[in-house]
Amino acid sequence: MRVVICENYAEMSRLAAEEIAAEMKKKKNFVLGLATGSTPVGTYGNLIEMNKQGEIDFTDVKTFNLDEYCGLYPNHDQSFNYFMYMNLFNYINIKNENVHVPFGFATDYDAWCKGYEAAIAEAGGLDLQLLGMGSNGHIGFNEPAEEFAEITHTVELTESTIKDNSRFFAKIEDVPTSAVTMGIGTIMRAKKIVMVVNGANKAKAVKEMINGPVTPSMPASALQNHPDVTVFVEKEAAKEIM
Ligand code: F6R
Repeated sequence: MRVVICENYAEMSRLAAEEIAAEMKKKKNFVLGLATGSTPVGTYGNLIEMNKQGEIDFTDVKTFNLDEYCGLYPNHDQSFNYFMYMNLFNYINIKNENVHVPFGFATDYDAWCKGYEAAIAEAGGLDLQLLGMGSNGHIGFNEPAEEFAEITHTVELTESTIKDNSRFFAKIEDVPTSAVTMGIGTIMRAKKIVMVVNGANKAKAVKEMINGPVTPSMPASALQNHPDVTVFVEKEAAKEIM
């Protein structure tokens, strides 16, 4: 695991975007895994700017998002689908048909999740997966659990995640309590992983992810077993590893 400690959020965002752009330039038909949440917003801002400057091209890029709340339609303003359009897709030259965000209103989730895995495989697998991390070590919506989930699946969200995410909703009761997410296995099959983390509230999780035991009770610790992970950690989030 390569850990890059960054001076501030802006530097973290710029370095992560440069890493993604460098990979995108190496391959046509790039398959990019994306995350939502507040952390990658700056990374997306940099990618948008690079696209505007003609440095990177999304024409043949396919994207697959990590997760989505269950029970929110794609056009709900707190859905991850809506977030992705507002923070990235509306501002880059990606084709709509190449965008994949998990659907939070499936009638048969098992079948839907299998289909999502098949679509990723059919695209050639994820060339790069961008991740953030929850303060409890979750990646995607893989919450601390008794085992690492292998494929895309539905999950009940923990109280701590519901509380963390309530800042985006009018009241905590409005936060969905379940979600559909790529599994740890799906994430681990990505050829390359880039994580961005900032804020003092993530410092303990950063330390445990890097130096703690590999355990499903700290989902991000699984990344210790991936051959190509770069974590861009802003200084405050890195304070327990410095
Ligand atoms: C969202 C996702 C989550 C977030 C995590 C951190 O797609 O995958 O694991 O990365 O909840 O969220 P922020 O960045 O808002 O602290």
